[in-house]
Amino acid sequence: MQNLQNSDSTIDSQAQEIALKEMVRERYDRIATQEKTLNAASCCGATVPSNKIYNIMMDDYSTIEGYAQDADLGLGCGLPTEFAHIKEGDTVLDLGSGAGNDCFVARHLTGANGKVIGVDFSDKMLEKARLNVEKLGYNNVEFRKGDIENLPITEASIDVIVSNCVLNLVPNKKAVFSQMYRALKKGGHFSISDVVLVGELPQNLRKDAEMYAGCVSGAIQKNDYLQAIKEAGFENITIQKEKTISIPDDILEKYLSEKEIQDFKKGEVGIFSITVFAQKDPQSEPAKRLFSPKKDTKNANTCAPNSGCC
Ligand SMILES: C[S@@+](CC[C@H](N)C(=O)[O-])C[C@H]1O[C@@H](n2cnc3c(N)ncnc32)[C@H](O)[C@@H]1O
Repeated sequence: MQNLQNSDSTIDSQAQEIALKEMVRERYDRIATQEKTLNAASCCGATVPSNKIYNIMMDDYSTIEGYAQDADLGLGCGLPTEFAHIKEGDTVLDLGSGAGNDCFVARHLTGANGKVIGVDFSDKMLEKARLNVEKLGYNNVEFRKGDIENLPITEASIDVIVSNCVLNLVPNKKAVFSQMYRALKKGGHFSISDVVLVGELPQNLRKDAEMYAGCVSGAIQKNDYLQAIKEAGFENITIQKEKTISIPDDILEKYLSEKEIQDFKKGEVGIFSITVFAQKDPQSEPAKRLFSPKKDTKNANTCAPNSGCC
C-alpha cells in the first residue's frame, strides 16, 4: 500500500513537472513572436501587469562585441559571457538560448575556429535563432532542439557552458547541473546568470503563474542552488556578480498585504540575480591555469574558491 502511494505521488510530481514545462514552452513560443517592448514589461518576458518597467535584471548588451539586436528579446537576467573566459577556438554551449543573444556574443569570442551550440525547447525561439544565424552568416553557430534536463550533447565535448535566466524555469535543476557536468570536458567550466531567492517569499507571490514565467516562482533558495551545483561534482563555485531585484509597489500590492510588503522591504526576504561560475575537474588543463576569480566587492557576494562557503 505504502509503495503504491509512493509510486502514485511520483507519477503526480512527474505529471506536474511535464505540465509546468509545457506552460513555459508555450509562453516562450508566444514571447518569440511578440515585440521586445512587450517582453521588457517585466523580468524574463512575462506579461505581468505593471505600469512600471522593471526588467532591471537584464544587463545592457548593446555595446558588447558580437551583439546582434534581433537576438536580444530582453529576456536575460545578467551577462554570463562577462565571466565565462571564452577563448578563441572554444566549443561553447548556451542552455535555453532563446533567439541566440548570448550565442552571438560567444561567437565573437570563439572566432571562426570555435563552435557555439544553443539548446532550446521552444520551436518559435529556435526558428528566430536560426533566422538570426542565417542573417549573420555564421557557419559555426548551431541551434538544437532539446530539453536541458536531457541535453542533446555528446559527453565531454564542451569547453564552456553559459546560460541566461533559464534554470529558474526548469523544475529539475539537479538534472540540469548533472547534464552540464556530463557535457563539459575535464577542466571545462560554466558561467550562468539566474534568479534565486533568499528567505521565504509570501505564498501568493510565489504561486502566481505570471510571476513564474517572470522567473521568480520557479526560483529556488540561493543556498540550495549552490548546493545542487556542488552535488553535481563542480568545484571552485563562485558568485561573480549579484544584484538585488526590486519589485515595484504596484506589483507587490497585487499579491501582498501591507504587512507582507513591509517585511519584504526590510530585505530579510529577497530576489536576486546572480552570475555563478564553477569548474569541472579544476586540476586538469586548461582549468588549472584559468584564473584567480576577481572580487567585485561593490556588487558581489563572492564565494571564493576553497573558502569553504559553498
Ligand atoms: C528567459 S528566456 C532566456 C532566453 C535567452 N537565454 C536570453 O537571454 O535571451 C528562457 C529560455 O529558456 C528556454 N527554456 C526554458 N526551459 C527549458 C528547458 N527545460 N529546456 C530547453 N529550453 C528551455 C525557453 O524556451 C526560453 O527560450
